[in-house]
Amino acid sequence: MCGIVGYIGHREAYPIIINGLKRLEYRGYDSAGLVLSTEQGFQLAKTRGKVVDLEEKSSDLDKTPNIGIGHTRWATHGVPNDVNSHPHLSNNGRLVLVHNGIIENYESIKKLLTDKGYVFHSDTDTEVLVNFIQLFQEEQNLSLAEAVRVALNEVIGAYAIAVLDNQDPETVVVGRLGSPLAIGIGDNEFFVASDASPFIEFTKDAVYLEDGDMATIRLGEKVDVRTIQNNEPVSLDIQELQLNIEAIEKGGFEHFMLKEIYEQPRSIRDTMRGRLLVDEGIIKMAGIWDHQEKFLNAKRIIIVACGTSYHAGLVAEYMIEDFARIPVEVEYASEFRYRNPIIKKSDVVIAISQSGETADTLAALKLAKEKGAFIFGINNVVGSSIARITDAGAYTHAGPEIGVASTKAFTAQLTILALIALKLGKHNGQLSAAQFNLLTNELERIPDLVQQILENCEGVVDKIAEKYKDNSNAIYLGRGYNYPSALEGALKLKEISYIHAEGYPAAEMKHGPIALLDENMPVIVIATKKGYYEKVVSNIQEIKSRSAKVIAIVNEGDEQVSAMADDVIVIPETAEEFSPILTAIPLQLLSYWIAVKLDKNVDQPRNLAKSVTVE
Ligand code: AGP
Ligand code: GLU
Repeated sequence: MCGIVGYIGHREAYPIIINGLKRLEYRGYDSAGLVLSTEQGFQLAKTRGKVVDLEEKSSDLDKTPNIGIGHTRWATHGVPNDVNSHPHLSNNGRLVLVHNGIIENYESIKKLLTDKGYVFHSDTDTEVLVNFIQLFQEEQNLSLAEAVRVALNEVIGAYAIAVLDNQDPETVVVGRLGSPLAIGIGDNEFFVASDASPFIEFTKDAVYLEDGDMATIRLGEKVDVRTIQNNEPVSLDIQELQLNIEAIEKGGFEHFMLKEIYEQPRSIRDTMRGRLLVDEGIIKMAGIWDHQEKFLNAKRIIIVACGTSYHAGLVAEYMIEDFARIPVEVEYASEFRYRNPIIKKSDVVIAISQSGETADTLAALKLAKEKGAFIFGINNVVGSSIARITDAGAYTHAGPEIGVASTKAFTAQLTILALIALKLGKHNGQLSAAQFNLLTNELERIPDLVQQILENCEGVVDKIAEKYKDNSNAIYLGRGYNYPSALEGALKLKEISYIHAEGYPAAEMKHGPIALLDENMPVIVIATKKGYYEKVVSNIQEIKSRSAKVIAIVNEGDEQVSAMADDVIVIPETAEEFSPILTAIPLQLLSYWIAVKLDKNVDQPRNLAKSVTVE
């Protein structure tokens, strides 16, 4: 996690760093800091809290320097406080560094340095790294870049770093392994950032540093990229950014999350665009088509993911098995990686990740690759680490998702997974032409149905939220395709309102959770018409008999469940296979409104970060 920004050029670095950090705050927001490089040395400001707190803390700084680096933190080593905030200075005051990641062997390095008389002020692994670089620089009389390179060769862990040296003030050295880093190249000015959002209004030319590479950035020179291991020159691969500034601003909404919820008709349509060609009766996806043999001969598909993306994977299991009859296993990436899984060359491993940077998912993929499986990525961020290591993939075109709670990325993932499942079913003959036609026609309607839900929910869901916001627990139930939806609904509520919530398959309730039911337990039940409706009706009877409150998500025209439930949210009917895309919308809105009414920080919930680049 953590966001890094740096600037070296002819403009004032301060506003670029502050605005850049604000755009990267989704990556971590427990502390922030920056350093500006002047002829007289470093000017440093850092604080626990958000970037706005840093602005206050920086009031006395001279804002004219043209070189600086900044950081917004999601603590891994040491509590969030002023001292642990980045940037960190070396003991001799010559070097200053910002870091995203974890130095796993920091304790042994710290001991080595302490034995040599180094002192540490913070509890971070980062402060160890900056002093380790100092050690090499001093003992071996190395340039900044060379000292960084030698130190990084000794480090185990993950990092994206930016370092300044006050004896070489017109240089920034950066490096990465496992955490992302982009370099923006302008007209004799350079930007450094964890993603390209801090510099999109200044340049569209960017280089995404590869894992294991470092770069020396110096005014008036070409960026010098080299491998950390052998110092071999790497050619510059400059890419043109497709991002635009509107996509990363709130556009009149009070929160990014609400904006992103309302963007879903568009983001789902964008994800289908150019792929779902209903009139021609085809689904076009080069990532699948070019590797058809792998998919169609796969003995098994394994899906690895975390959090919300994992829930999308669970829906995909149902869809792929239904449409294409290929066995699917879905695993938490973190568990998969550490449990000695059986992976065969005939397996296809699909990683689902909004950010494309999730360390657990990345590690699971690397393992699958080592074992010879074909690895496929479903990501939202173009050029992300997962996108770059996979054999093939498909981007969800949801656009940048800033709210920490995933919304539009989830429904875009479900959309692309539906396309994949349908395409596989068509090509391996499990779906007849008529079935394929029916389903693709239905899928094409989904963006309009989502629009309809958003309109219908106005003035409904916020009232329900008001009624239940003070309950400390909630249960979410769904069956079949909407069991993962129940898990996702519960996760959304936990994440942003801090209310304890659990999702279960509706029929599991009687095997334990039913003991929790009383008048203080709201139960959110997904009761779509085609989803084992009668069974769910019985489950609701059981809940009502225990005096618990029922909030039901039902289809238009529903009578039976509506008569039993305390509150009802109505959504249009669709094929059950695609219904999780629709049921997600009211569940997102419910958690949003509860969090707003509880006055929680919706876009930046406590303890979380958007991109979890630590294991
Ligand atoms: C979603 O609301 C969460 N913030 C989180 O569970 C997220 O889905 C998870 O960390 C995986 O992220 P990814 O999709 O970027 O890999
Ligand atoms: N390990 C560093 C710290 O705790 C960086 C944290 C991160 O990137 O998440 O300060």
